[in-house]
Amino acid sequence: MKVIAFVMTVSILIFASKAKAQDSAKGAQLYSASCVACHGQNAAGNEEMKAPRLAGQHDWYLVTALNDFKKGARNHPYKKALSQKDMEDLAAHISRLK
Ligand code: HEC
Repeated sequence: MKVIAFVMTVSILIFASKAKAQDSAKGAQLYSASCVACHGQNAAGNEEMKAPRLAGQHDWYLVTALNDFKKGARNHPYKKALSQKDMEDLAAHISRLK
């Protein structure tokens, strides 16, 4: 019985860590390709473009905002579709910028 409980705990932990695996390196690539022009290299923002600072923002806030843009609940000049994984990778990268 104990063995079964142990195996189940381990598999749940492995599953949980896989499900949460955002890839900030992938996010960095996406950011450089798609977001730098407006939000700036270190996501400090660009007043001329009216693009706000994103650096250091909470990852969950960034994912919420990107989902709102996708749903059309908020307006955003960047119109290309991002997958949920793209958004999480981007958020993992941006939230680490200072
Ligand atoms: C063409 C310029 C442009 C590009 C490219 C662009 N943005 Fe934006 N972004 C803006 C502007 C302007 C706003 C302010 C929108 C508003 O009025 O809420 C904004 C807002 C945001 C916000 C909301 C910030 C907040 O505090 O609520 C997030 C998050 C964001 N952008 C992420 C991104 C990401 C990630 C990318 C790349 C995939 C990207 N943006 C590409 C111009 C841009």
